[in-house]
Amino acid sequence: MKSFYITTAIDYANGKPHLGHAYEKVLTDVVARFRRLSGDDVYFVTGLDEHGQKVQQSAKARGIRPIELCNEAAESFQGLCKGLNITNDDFIRTTEDRHKSVVSTILQKLFDQGDIYKAEYAGYYSRRAEQFLQEKDKNEDGEWPEIFGDVEEIAESNYFFKLSRHQDWLIDHIKTNESFIFPRFRAKQVLEFLKEPINDLCISRPKERLEWGIPLPFDADYVTYVWFDALVNYVTAAGYGTDEFEKRWPADFHVIGKDILVPPHAVYWPIMLKAAGIELPKSLLVHGWWLKSGEKMSKSTGTVVDPLDLIEQFGSDAFRYFVTREMNVGQDSEFSLERYMARYNSDLANDLGNLLSRVLTMLGRGFDGIIPATQLEETLEQELWKGWDETQAKVLELFEEFQFHTGLERIFAFVSSINRYAEQRAPWKLAKSEDPIDKQRLDTALFAMSEAVRLAVGLLEPVMPETTEKVYSLLGHEPDSDWRKRLIRNEDLAGSTVGPKTILFPKPPVEA
Ligand code: MSP
Repeated sequence: MKSFYITTAIDYANGKPHLGHAYEKVLTDVVARFRRLSGDDVYFVTGLDEHGQKVQQSAKARGIRPIELCNEAAESFQGLCKGLNITNDDFIRTTEDRHKSVVSTILQKLFDQGDIYKAEYAGYYSRRAEQFLQEKDKNEDGEWPEIFGDVEEIAESNYFFKLSRHQDWLIDHIKTNESFIFPRFRAKQVLEFLKEPINDLCISRPKERLEWGIPLPFDADYVTYVWFDALVNYVTAAGYGTDEFEKRWPADFHVIGKDILVPPHAVYWPIMLKAAGIELPKSLLVHGWWLKSGEKMSKSTGTVVDPLDLIEQFGSDAFRYFVTREMNVGQDSEFSLERYMARYNSDLANDLGNLLSRVLTMLGRGFDGIIPATQLEETLEQELWKGWDETQAKVLELFEEFQFHTGLERIFAFVSSINRYAEQRAPWKLAKSEDPIDKQRLDTALFAMSEAVRLAVGLLEPVMPETTEKVYSLLGHEPDSDWRKRLIRNEDLAGSTVGPKTILFPKPPVEA
């Protein structure tokens, strides 16, 4: 069986993990878990982009070797994955031998077939920033900004990858493959970019200027520069050159942020693959940005939210819930702690958490902790179950289309409907009645509430796996091995012994 191969972008090693990185991993993990629960053989890879000038400079500034800095970063990004409960099968680091050898093989192949050539590049160069500048880098007065220091004109020989020969083919590919870029509106930006002739891509840096990179196999005086190294991680991790590759490649989804769609993932990558004779990934799933006060969160503006702080205080499920519930995959989303707390308190602690503790308390008090069986289904129950059938069908459909935020909205609307049912049925009143019919209603109500909670948390599993497991265990429920079956109402809970009253989402949480 072909794997369902899904990847995240690989993060720059030169920085600390922030909300944007965490979000991308959660989104990818939600898709991965959803597909795994739906029966796919999922292969999920994330990792670290470790070469480049910035890493070299930072390491130098700290008086350590670049690899030491990367090792620290790898530990911290892997810690993030663990903290977020990410189910990646592999964590690729671009400094690993397996990757260097794949990059070399592909570069050599492209060089041998004439897709890579050497040419002189002349331009403005900033020694301070160690980079070539373009006209657009000038400020409004047409001057080079202070940060670049003295800017000089220099000429340098470098290697270039021919992009333009595949431009028409790429335009055609994007136009004819509706599902290549999701959401579809982003494809328009790519086609817009491709309207102009594209320049060939500079893929090297002379060693004297950049040491921390993979040497070009055909010229040891140079190393590969940025994208030729980073993008190839996707085929390295799929086992390029081994038997595994057939099973995993092409990737089903590369999950990336909108800033690295055009040109890297939508232009360079498809053309690199085409030239190398490797199949294209099936889809790019492009998410928006987390903003803080309307701007992209970034280290330089000091608007970084540390996901690990939030996880520590509220748990990983709450974090996963918040980012998935708030972000409409194609759009940007504003982060605020107030909003985070509001969602935590109202959706999680109140609506779901209190419901469960109410059910457990009532079962503990009047039923020796044993869930009774349905005795008498009336209109209230029928409405509740009708609501479930609709929710379940609709949410699966929304999840298939990456509409997780609306999917979660629907699930929590169902949770609210369980709370409404409880208010209307008022089992605490029924418990005081002498009428035998009311006793039947009471049994039915406690069964219905338990079963409805079981169903709701079942559907939450791709997003909130810990909660699902915890609630199943508190309800004394042994889940079916088939996820879709777990989402169908049955009577199996009758007779199970529940756990003690438990607060799923302690409230109010410690001040963040
Ligand atoms: N190393 C490159 C990617 C190479 S992929 C072959 C890179 N690294 S990054 O650390 O800057 O970003 C990693 C991912 O995080 C990207 O997909 C990027 O879009 C995403 N995010 C970074 N900041 C973000 C937000 N503020 N919000 C959401 N995601 C953003 O680019």
